[in-house]
Amino acid sequence: MSTLDITALNQYSNEELETRVDHGRLPRHVAVIMDGNGRWAKSRYMPRIAGHYEGMKSVREIVTACREIGIQALTLYAFSQENWKRPPEEIGLLMKIMEGYLKSELDLLLEQEIRFMTIGRPELLPKPVLRWIDKVETATRDCDKMILTVALSYGGRGEIVDAMRAILEDYRQGNVDLHDIDESLIEQHLYTAALPELDLLIRTSGEARISNFLLWQVAYAELHLTKTLWPDFRRRELLLALLDYQTRERRFGRTSQPDFPQTIGKPS
Ligand code: IPE
Ligand code: IPE
Ligand code: MG
Repeated sequence: MSTLDITALNQYSNEELETRVDHGRLPRHVAVIMDGNGRWAKSRYMPRIAGHYEGMKSVREIVTACREIGIQALTLYAFSQENWKRPPEEIGLLMKIMEGYLKSELDLLLEQEIRFMTIGRPELLPKPVLRWIDKVETATRDCDKMILTVALSYGGRGEIVDAMRAILEDYRQGNVDLHDIDESLIEQHLYTAALPELDLLIRTSGEARISNFLLWQVAYAELHLTKTLWPDFRRRELLLALLDYQTRERRFGRTSQPDFPQTIGKPS
């Protein structure tokens, strides 16, 4: 299959989709812009927060599915730096949902040996959320079957600014020279330094933008854009995203099509 024929794949049962996934060619690091909770609720004449609750169920299912399938790292965009501009009532309820998620998931994460971490600027997060983040990060520190990273109060530009500040501090202290500054050094100072290279970025809800997510890391990631709203994005949708990924040829600027020898050096 050279391009994903979503209509054809949609005819397959979940079991058939499972067997089609090539476990030897899985993305190591999958990230998701979990979008569309509000629209999911609106279409049901429910308050936006109902969409966020339902979206939490998708988080649970996708985390478990990624762990079972064998994804090494899953990074979820839960709250952006720009989301602080939302009405305080919605922000407050989102923070409550986050706290509830951390409380209810700790045992499940330990059982599945999933390490939990967060990226972003946590300063503005409410104290109870910070306490739970700390608790879950500490408790799962030695888990090594998958890394679940939740981007909270996260912005890609802010991440690059923080990396620049850290590097300049090292420079000021004489630990880094101007010639040492290269892509690898910058990567080592990003929040994601401990994670594998980003292979697949999924965005739900039909939007086709990055919204300040993993700006540096996305350089050569494959993109899977789906109209499905996040609360409807469950294991089946994940399988479709993985199958889409597996149809791609990752060239990283190279070409896999050598030219005909007789034409080389003879531009027309
Ligand atoms: C994504 O859903 C969740 C967050 C950004 C916190 P939205 O709340 O953005 O839902 P839509 O995009 O308005 O449908
Ligand atoms: C992106 O969704 C942020 C998260 C999913 C946390 P938004 O709904 O905030 O993005 P925009 O505003 O549509 O770009
Ligand atoms: Mg949105």
